Amino acid sequence: MTDISVIATTSFGLETVLGFELKNMGYESFVKENGRIILNTELSKIPELNINLRTAERIFIRLAVFKCLDFDDLYDNLLKISWADIINEDGKIIVNFKSVKSAIKSISNSQGISKKAIIETLKKRYKKDWFTETGADYKILVSLQNDMAEILLDTSGHGLNRRGYRAHHGEAPLRETLAASLIDLSRWRNDEVLIDPFCGSGTILIEAALKGRNTAPGLKSEFDSEKWDLIPQKFWDSARNAAKNKINNDELHLYGYDKDAEVIAIAKKNASKAGVGDCITFACRDIKNFSESHKKAFIITNPPYGERLTGDIAEVYTVMSEKFKTLHGWRIYILTGFENFSKIFRRSDKNRKLYNGKIKCHLHMFFNPEKN
Ligand SMILES: C[S@@+](CC[C@H](N)C(=O)[O-])C[C@H]1O[C@@H](n2cnc3c(N)ncnc32)[C@H](O)[C@@H]1O
Repeated sequence: MTDISVIATTSFGLETVLGFELKNMGYESFVKENGRIILNTELSKIPELNINLRTAERIFIRLAVFKCLDFDDLYDNLLKISWADIINEDGKIIVNFKSVKSAIKSISNSQGISKKAIIETLKKRYKKDWFTETGADYKILVSLQNDMAEILLDTSGHGLNRRGYRAHHGEAPLRETLAASLIDLSRWRNDEVLIDPFCGSGTILIEAALKGRNTAPGLKSEFDSEKWDLIPQKFWDSARNAAKNKINNDELHLYGYDKDAEVIAIAKKNASKAGVGDCITFACRDIKNFSESHKKAFIITNPPYGERLTGDIAEVYTVMSEKFKTLHGWRIYILTGFENFSKIFRRSDKNRKLYNGKIKCHLHMFFNPEKN
């Protein structure tokens, strides 16, 4: 197995951002679908994709696609995959199952049948009946949609949003992958001032700092496929070395404020854990006291919006709208699920529907705040 079909998943609405990232990494042709991108590449690229992509959620290898109307179809097609070339003899096999608009619905039966087929192929190769399953994890996703089955091997093992720097978080932290996507969407460059006046645990600024310093988000993470014989260690070493060599030491101008002193302490801890504590200035400040001396800057922020945070939300937006009126020439990006946003703020120049986990939000973008 050298040429492979890879599926990089992302949140709905962020496929273009992920596509842009892939293009910047030198991947020319791929297909965008809802919440994911499919690309044909080589097995040796799996480490580079897991280590470097900022806006992808997981990296899968697509092992098979077939019509699947019943359990026999599922079993027979799974037997055709050379599992013994993929799974180490002591590998732990974890089958997950998803079914949308398909005849097969039973999760536990499908998981059982799939695992049985995989074990049958391993028995033939290893000439034994029982496997310890004490080794590396192999998460296999059997996904059915409209009676078409896709068999996906999860090379990441955990969501790529888990960068490892968030030892602590505030009440409603933003997903790291979404924060990275906001930075990309804003086209912020690392010599420009960036402010988050509702920074919470600091996710947006930490992601900006990692990007600004060209630090790969997965440099310190471990991935399931790192323990597989399928992908030789030399590919991981060379992807990590290449990523390390790209890190710069540029001076960054990043500022984070929040009214909650405890949350600011958490943001500072997270930033140092991410290795970017020196690039961000955090301070405890209510939006009421927002004043800026910078002539031009970016604001990328995720203010409170009621789902998980309570309090007088409308008042916060009224104050914010007043404060931002005077920021002539700034670029402002506000991600919120607050439904009355447009009643309080002037019409945004552009907006985009996005999801923060399951919560529907809009990214309201203002390019010419002097029109406020
Ligand atoms: C949705 S959370 C931001 C989460 C952040 N993006 C993160 O990843 O952790 C909103 C933040 O706004 C802060 N906040 C609420 N009212 C505020 C105010 N009047 N002025 C400044 N910050 C405020 C809360 O303390 C909370 O940390």
